[in-house]
Amino acid sequence: MPVPHLLQSKLPQVGTTIFTQMSALAATHGAINLSQGFPDFPIDDDLIERVAYYMRLGRNQYAPMTGTPQLRTSIAAKIERIYGYTPDAEKEITVTSGATEALYAVIAAVIGPGDEALVLDPAYDSYAPAVALQGGKPIHIPLQYPGFRPDWNVIRSSITPRSRLIIINTPHNPTGSAWQPDDLLQLEELVLQHKLLVLSDEVYQHLIYDGQQHQSVLSRPEIRKHAAAVFSFGKTFHATGWKAGYVVAPEAFSAEIRKVHQYLTFSTHTPTQLALADYLQKPENYEHLPQFYQKKHDLFLELLKDSRFKPLPCNGTYFQLLDYSGISNKPDVEMARWLTVEKGVAAIPISVFYVDKQDHCLLRFCFAKQEETLRKAAELLCKI
Ligand SMILES: Cc1ncc(COP(=O)(O)O)c(C=O)c1O
Repeated sequence: MPVPHLLQSKLPQVGTTIFTQMSALAATHGAINLSQGFPDFPIDDDLIERVAYYMRLGRNQYAPMTGTPQLRTSIAAKIERIYGYTPDAEKEITVTSGATEALYAVIAAVIGPGDEALVLDPAYDSYAPAVALQGGKPIHIPLQYPGFRPDWNVIRSSITPRSRLIIINTPHNPTGSAWQPDDLLQLEELVLQHKLLVLSDEVYQHLIYDGQQHQSVLSRPEIRKHAAAVFSFGKTFHATGWKAGYVVAPEAFSAEIRKVHQYLTFSTHTPTQLALADYLQKPENYEHLPQFYQKKHDLFLELLKDSRFKPLPCNGTYFQLLDYSGISNKPDVEMARWLTVEKGVAAIPISVFYVDKQDHCLLRFCFAKQEETLRKAAELLCKI
């Protein structure tokens, strides 16, 4: 047992995450779980075969700290194909144990006591605690409701001499919004003028709809001199349990990120990296993803068209926001619990992603599910 008076919490406000809470509640009540962001369909057999192959081949010892050369080379080729520039596989790409580890390593590399990081709310839940753990201060700036685009005037006016980092996320969890080309231009102006670094969470890079282009910081030479871009194989290849990701940053920035990474996890699962290196060489393994998820998105909306929930526009990710203000005026956390316990569908309330718990009567539903799951969930939602 820890001795309470010797243990002073560094994160006194933090409890169990909403994702764990809602998934547990869904399991207890046998509800369909559209809360946490993970697919309920199998991953490609080919990928499983590759991992098994490398395990049998005996590739079961530590990988190099920065990632296997094979995987870093495949990542560089993929970035060249998509964003038209080739990062140095040796010096600018680091393989991590999921995007979460990369996010933490970047924040720990940049933020020191008293430093400020701009966080755009509603924000993915790992950013602010990672800043706080370094003694830094997250400066929360709301995205504009209801479109959830950045308000560049407010962002500019929030910069102080202590501002070090702006954390961005597009396509955006939890709202499903996605940046437009103008947002990247605004970001470029901001980072050049204020000498800021950028942490760009792009784990949903391939989940972008209606023919739009993902606005990556890697596509703009001036921004990428200041940026660390974070990606997740778990999200891309429907294998969230594998916890494999990577971060791309300029050489000097990567060197600092690697110093943290080597003491966090040192390296990432070797056979998985070797399998992913092979798998990435076939662009058809990721190029179909926008269409694949758009079909699920369109089906989910079609199934809900007669419900009393009102969908908000979804430009990317596998999350759909539904406005329930026409059904109830319960606070969103209460509504999410009620929906799970009484109606058998679990979703995530949006207020928990805001530091000030703004409540717009919105719930987030994950549609990375089999058609049958989506049909069953929609049937229950339409009865409300
Ligand atoms: C915006 C965002 N960033 C990062 C992550 C974490 O990715 P990983 O599972 O690769 O750590 C998630 C997972 O839900 C996410 O939604």
